[in-house]
Order: sequence, then C-alpha cells, then structure tokens
Amino acid sequence: MIEWNPALAVHIPVIDEQHRLLAERANLLLHALSTSSPELITNTFGYFEAFIQDHFRTEEELLVKSGKIDSPYAQKHMAAHETFLCEFRTFRESLSSPDMNPAQVDAFSRWILAWYQAHIEHDDIRLGEFLRSPE
Ligand SMILES: [Fe+2]
Repeated sequence: MIEWNPALAVHIPVIDEQHRLLAERANLLLHALSTSSPELITNTFGYFEAFIQDHFRTEEELLVKSGKIDSPYAQKHMAAHETFLCEFRTFRESLSSPDMNPAQVDAFSRWILAWYQAHIEHDDIRLGEFLRSPE
C-alpha cells in the first residue's frame, strides 16, 4: 500500500495533490494486479500511465515557466522521469502477458513503492526548493 504523508510535501499545491492521487492510483494498479484479470490489468496500466505522464508534464511545465529548464538540475529531473517511464513500460509489458507470475507482481510492487518514496523525497522536494529559489 502506497501512502502520501505530509513529510512528502513539496509545498506546491498542484504537485502535492497529484502526488496524493498518484498513491491512490498506484494502489488501484496493485489491486488490479492481484485480481489476475487481464482486462482490468490492461485498463488500469493505461489509466496509471496516462496519469503519471500528465503529472510529469505538470512538473516540467513549472520548470519551463521558471526559466530554469536548461539547468543541470532540471535536465536531471526530466531524465529521471524518462527513466521511470522506460522501466515502467518494461514492467507493464511483462505483467500484461498471460503467463505473468506472482514474483513479477511482487517485484513491481516493491519497485513502485521504492520509486514513489525516493523520487518524491530526493527529486521532487528539491524541485519545490529549486522553483522557489531566486536564481
Ligand atoms: Fe518529478
């Protein structure tokens, strides 16, 4: 179970709200995987991927608006989003196959939980500070 908590606050309301919803949607996805229903799994993966792409876009638009999109920090942050999507799609493919097994679901569940915590704590909280900093 993935949960947002105030220690993960980035202090940008739109981002904090999306992070909270992201936890809910990740839990829906983990639930779908536990049902082994191919249709539900496919739909929920599609729903989650669309949501997280929108979320990354929101963060990236804030970086564009800040005028600091070319900074090494912004470039590194966007590269982390790309890496996530690439790894996510690899999981999505193996977990959408009819012969997927519980060990793969377990691996995915550990991976997404660790990513959620680490990306928010290390990259997104820094994003809030970065956007508020004057230069
Ligand atoms: Fe991010």
